[in-house]
Amino acid sequence: MLLLRLIMGFISIKDAMKKGKGKVAVRGWVYRERGSNELKFIVLRDSSDIIQCVLKKQKFEKQWSEIDAVQVEASVEIEGTIKLDKRAPTGYEIQVDKFKLIGESNEFPIQKDLNEELLGDRRHLWLRSRKMTAILKIRSSVIGALHEYFRSKGFYEFQSPIIIPGGAEEGPTLFEIKYFGKKMYLAQTWQLYAEAAMYALEKIYCMAPSFRAEESKTSRHLTEYWHTEMEVAWLNLNEIMDYAEEMIKHVIRKVLKENKKELAILERDVKKLEPSLKKKFPRFTYDQVLKFLNDKKKMKVEWGKDLRTIEEEKLMELYDTPIFVTNYPKEAMAFYKPRDKANPKTACCFDLLGPEGNGELIGGSERDTNIEELKKSLKEKGEKLEDYQYYFDIHSYGAIPHGGFGLGTERLIKWICGLDTIKDAIAFPRTMTRTSP
Ligand code: 4AD
Repeated sequence: MLLLRLIMGFISIKDAMKKGKGKVAVRGWVYRERGSNELKFIVLRDSSDIIQCVLKKQKFEKQWSEIDAVQVEASVEIEGTIKLDKRAPTGYEIQVDKFKLIGESNEFPIQKDLNEELLGDRRHLWLRSRKMTAILKIRSSVIGALHEYFRSKGFYEFQSPIIIPGGAEEGPTLFEIKYFGKKMYLAQTWQLYAEAAMYALEKIYCMAPSFRAEESKTSRHLTEYWHTEMEVAWLNLNEIMDYAEEMIKHVIRKVLKENKKELAILERDVKKLEPSLKKKFPRFTYDQVLKFLNDKKKMKVEWGKDLRTIEEEKLMELYDTPIFVTNYPKEAMAFYKPRDKANPKTACCFDLLGPEGNGELIGGSERDTNIEELKKSLKEKGEKLEDYQYYFDIHSYGAIPHGGFGLGTERLIKWICGLDTIKDAIAFPRTMTRTSP
């Protein structure tokens, strides 16, 4: 069987179109089909593209009933002659000489006009759509570009545990799990472990699932998302932001270069991404942002509160690139973000907000190494100090300035692809209400 296939020399639809003429053998799934008494048109898809194939009854007298009955998503092998045809969906057509049905399909349950909920229920099949295939290819480029970026900058990839005894971010968003009669949690971040490893490796990154028991049903929250995090020794806040900006630019440049076709399938207006390559991302403090919101958007935000989605969205109407917002109020921030000596009511931290209504893409900060300050912040947040003894240990032997950030990988993919919801930025989304398939 293998030998036979080698002789037939199947190539991808993309390569067949590159060849452009002569005999080709392709295989894949029926993307669309229509027929008449004399002809059957099959648009075939594989992972590379789609192509129109024409079968004439004359040539297939014996097989005609099988060909006539072939339905969407049946898998088939086809051999024939390829030629340019401007009327065909991708500009080429195959006149078929040989046809083989590999796997039948009966009434594929995805039709036009299914609502978002039903497409969610049938996600395992909807993944085959052109839209989802394009997104998954872009997602693969984004993940590849992130690895490439960190490795090119001399970072080590470091993994931290997913099952952890306590949190680093807000308590209420921790998922509790049963663990041999003990309470344990799913990681919201790698951070506290990353800080331990930073003392060994100095520059580290990872891409791993993070879990947040978010009760929100917004277009930008998942309960399980892929967190791209980095931690670096000897850096200050501005230098950490430099990394974040360079990383985002690298990913966008890469996707614009490698995924033109997929962006076109998604009808993404790529001009909207270009300013982010050309311009430096502005850096503002929280205080400045509150003033912009008041002066330019007539929105009053009480000092001391984190920015809400609506405020971030209004603010971002003013910009066509991401912007950094630094120096959020210390008390509203996670315990490890240090007080800014120059402005002690605030923390040495930043969020990177995305344009086009995408909100927070990245959260980062310098890290507090002052054990007394750490203990005070933890107590104020109602945490038990004994749970953090290892964290105090980490910073008790040769503490240094350091920091890092976390990127919501699906939020970046959502922005780059121009998606309405973060759920489409991942194959099988998990949200408060979506747990299957
Ligand atoms: O701002 P966060 O909570 O920061 C941290 O977890 C830090 N410990 C990261 C670090 O410094 N190593 O989360 C970081 C990013 C957010 O900016 C957001 O993009 C994303 O993670 N994120 C989510 N993405 C999807 N769904 C959710 N529920 C998310 N919660 C946070």
